[in-house]
Amino acid sequence: MRAVTRNAFRTLVRPLKNTLGARCLATQSNSSSGLSLPTAPSTRYTAVSHPENASSVTPKVQALLDRSDAYILPVYARPPIVLQRGKGSYVWDVEGREYLDFSAGIAVNALGHADEGVIETMRTAASNLLHTSNVYHNEHASKLAELLITLTQAEGGLGWTPGSSQSWSNGSSGAKVFFANTGTEANEGALKIARKVGKARWAEKTGMSWDDASCDKHEIVCFERSFHGRSMGALSVTSNPKYQKPFMPLIPGVKVGRLNEQEALKTLVDDKTCAVIVEPIQGEGGINAADVEWLCALRKRCDEVGAVLIYDEIQCGLYRTGYIWAHSTFPADAQPDMVTTAKPLANGYPIGAVLMRDSVAEVMTAGTHGTTFGGSPLACALGFHVLSRLSDKAFVANVRDTGGYLQERLGLLTHWFPNILENKVRGRGLILGLGFKNASHPGRVVEMARERGVLLLTAGADAVRLVPSLNIGAGEVGHAMEVVESVLHVLNEE
Ligand SMILES: Cc1ncc(COP(=O)(O)O)c(C=O)c1O
Repeated sequence: MRAVTRNAFRTLVRPLKNTLGARCLATQSNSSSGLSLPTAPSTRYTAVSHPENASSVTPKVQALLDRSDAYILPVYARPPIVLQRGKGSYVWDVEGREYLDFSAGIAVNALGHADEGVIETMRTAASNLLHTSNVYHNEHASKLAELLITLTQAEGGLGWTPGSSQSWSNGSSGAKVFFANTGTEANEGALKIARKVGKARWAEKTGMSWDDASCDKHEIVCFERSFHGRSMGALSVTSNPKYQKPFMPLIPGVKVGRLNEQEALKTLVDDKTCAVIVEPIQGEGGINAADVEWLCALRKRCDEVGAVLIYDEIQCGLYRTGYIWAHSTFPADAQPDMVTTAKPLANGYPIGAVLMRDSVAEVMTAGTHGTTFGGSPLACALGFHVLSRLSDKAFVANVRDTGGYLQERLGLLTHWFPNILENKVRGRGLILGLGFKNASHPGRVVEMARERGVLLLTAGADAVRLVPSLNIGAGEVGHAMEVVESVLHVLNEE
């Protein structure tokens, strides 16, 4: 029995709690994933089961919300629910209401909530050695770095084609890792390292010293609708006026291009460019994929001017597409010099990492960059445990199967609701999006789904994003899709 079918069986027998307005699923047809597909949208979940109106907020919840209002900086617009615990792909609020979590802490909880292996690894690592700082070596950081690099070499990425391996008997594996604590900090590190590479390349070309005031190879190129983080450096390459404007001036020398626009590359990326940063699949910006041909052109242009190409795979990497990296299957001439990662690496414990080829790493020496917490024994022990499980062949096969099934179910929605939805499902694997014709709909769909017990996310100005745990079952996909179908049915009737 294929993994997904086993999962489907397990989760389909789970009793579905909300049967309000129940209507049996219409007759089934076979899909290419081997699972049956409905022939009509479900209306089983048209009624609200998890109300959020003022009168439904209990005194207990209101007291928690009031305390939050009194003490927490109000930078997040949050619904009036307070989550308390989770297990697998489900979370429960303080009132015991159950939610199916298709947001996974924004593409973080790859192994779901309260995973036993993660808990045990955390317990062991924390009771041995929680933190040391980078003044000393710890055994877990180098083990995780080795796993990241050897998996990348074997499965493809960072310039290696699948099946590559490199012995480190000569003292180097061919690539290096810098550990940080978040995605933002990984990108911040990558940009700093690329700046240093730019100066070194300029010095080599001109024969002058890298710190000469005339060195102008420090510009950075990013793209519209990108999201790379909120620190001053990462924010400077996050080209969203809503995030940037209140904090101007940002770092100078940033140029913004358009994803997949090839003609502009020649002027966009020039001799002053030290780095280009791009998400192979934009997450926050709307699940927009970069075309492989465009990435080839971008790689070529970076080589022509000696710029470092950085792929931000913080949201789309680490098996979310069914491959270690979204770029693993790209040809050799669409490969980056550096990759940044974070979110799922320790399944919710903060960690970030920058992977880079030796050709980039060689400019970094002791004291040129650092962090107190990055690469801690606890974070790296968790990272090693999580990555070992994510890279398991059966696990990856399940991600591909379930991703294919979810994509098929979303494809049906685009046929059933052409007035509401774009005709194409965005993304790959388990980073998928539905594009909406009316920009007010994504927010409403997320809210309406939550009021029916399913947690989704918006993305960009016009999309709903689906980034569930990577071990989600087909039955859970079916449940979430029935809720989304019911919500779209309600919207359609308005
Ligand atoms: C592609 C991408 N880069 C960077 C970040 C920032 O990561 P963090 O929030 O961990 O700092 C995010 C967060 O959503 C992201 O999706």
